[in-house]
Amino acid sequence: MNPSQVTIVGAGYVGVVVAVCFAEQGRTVLVADRDGEKIEKLAKGEVPFYEPGVYLLLNRALKAGRIAFTDNLAEAVRRHDMLMLAVGTPGLSDGSVDLSQLDDAAQVIADHAARESLVIVKSTVPPGATRKLGGWLRTHAAVPIHVAFCPEFLRQGSGVDDFMNPSRVVIGAESDAVCGLVEELYRPFLSDQTPLVKTDLASSEMVKLAANGFLATKISYINDIAALCEKLGADVEAVKLGAGLDRRIGRRYLNPGIGYGGSCLPKDVAGLMALAEAHGEPLTVLRATAAINNRVRERFVEKIVARFGDLHGLTLAVWGLSFKPNTDDMRDAPSVPIIEALASRGAAIRAYDPEAMPKAWPLLGHAATFWPNAESACEGADALLVLTDWPEFTSPNWPVVRTSMKQAVVFDGRNLYDPKRLAEHGFAYYSIGRPAAD
Ligand SMILES: NC(=O)c1ccc[n+]([C@@H]2O[C@H](COP(=O)([O-])OP(=O)(O)OC[C@H]3O[C@@H](n4cnc5c(N)ncnc54)[C@H](O)[C@@H]3O)[C@@H](O)[C@H]2O)c1
Repeated sequence: MNPSQVTIVGAGYVGVVVAVCFAEQGRTVLVADRDGEKIEKLAKGEVPFYEPGVYLLLNRALKAGRIAFTDNLAEAVRRHDMLMLAVGTPGLSDGSVDLSQLDDAAQVIADHAARESLVIVKSTVPPGATRKLGGWLRTHAAVPIHVAFCPEFLRQGSGVDDFMNPSRVVIGAESDAVCGLVEELYRPFLSDQTPLVKTDLASSEMVKLAANGFLATKISYINDIAALCEKLGADVEAVKLGAGLDRRIGRRYLNPGIGYGGSCLPKDVAGLMALAEAHGEPLTVLRATAAINNRVRERFVEKIVARFGDLHGLTLAVWGLSFKPNTDDMRDAPSVPIIEALASRGAAIRAYDPEAMPKAWPLLGHAATFWPNAESACEGADALLVLTDWPEFTSPNWPVVRTSMKQAVVFDGRNLYDPKRLAEHGFAYYSIGRPAAD
């Protein structure tokens, strides 16, 4: 098998980042997706979503002829014998995972693989799924197909950097030979500081879910502590710093706010819980994690209601809609339930996000109006709500914002600002886990 040529199935946030990073390292990459419109854009050098650094790498790879795109999956499967699956694995309403995109891709591989091939699953799947896929492919394909699982840890917003400089690479495989092939593919990204974890398929699948469950729990834990800090008059930012500086704890993902969102943490927590319950080992910690995450959104809305009472006739400016900064991804963004709850109580919402407004419109068009910049969203507003910590919101021109607003009130869902500074600018300021300045 030839690791210098790779086919990637799925041109989403993960598939495209992985593809341009492989191409940057000199590999020839063919990306296949059944969404013809997406493929057409990518082939022209346009990135169908916002992810820093991808545009540059994509266009460099196109110019060098190292990347190509197709919506003909059969052709892509025939072309290379190293295939990576980065299709979606969304959650179902019962918490379990929808593997139908993976099954559809497997069908095409079974029908069209022309020679012995390796299928590396990058999509997040429940433990057991890759082994099952391998068994199915072996009985349905005319050629030998091997499988491996290599969890993807990149974070949207810093995907290129995360992929190029991984904290670790985990490979799950059924044999040393297969593991060696995946290792070969990843060699350019392995440095002396990058541990390589080689394990079996189920353990590698579990690594991804266990890691995401832990990260979500860290966020919910600090949010629970933040709620208590508010009652006690303590400052969660000081608590976070003091506790997080303990190397056993660490400060990352210990950020109080309006909770986690996106396409990974909520669905991976739900998937892990569903899996645990099906096996009679309910993960009670994760149940609390998910419950706290829902509660922080409600608490944020309650703070606004507590300040104003009836929201009818009020105008609320919103800065930030995407689930985190540096992405336009609106999947499971906390901004959606928060804005819907406020709009249903009668508030008029004026929203602004640097990148996510096109994707927010179908989700929030009924509940909000959209404005071209942060300042215009604030005009005539009774309060400003900060829902995503985009860098451009960190240093606003407060005197200008203050003058354009009807009432000088800020609800900060990301603890972006220093309460003292906001008070100096004449704002009533409510944040998470810190005494309110009203
Ligand atoms: N987004 C992240 O930050 C992230 C990080 C780590 C892991 N993951 C996991 O990676 C996987 C992909 O995530 P994503 O955010 O890139 O998803 P996505 O929804 O953005 O992209 C999936 C792509 O696969 C395509 N697709 C689906 N079925 C196909 C098929 N049979 N043939 C060809 N194309 C097909 C879709 O058209 C879509 O473009 C998921 O399992 C996710 O849990 C995501």
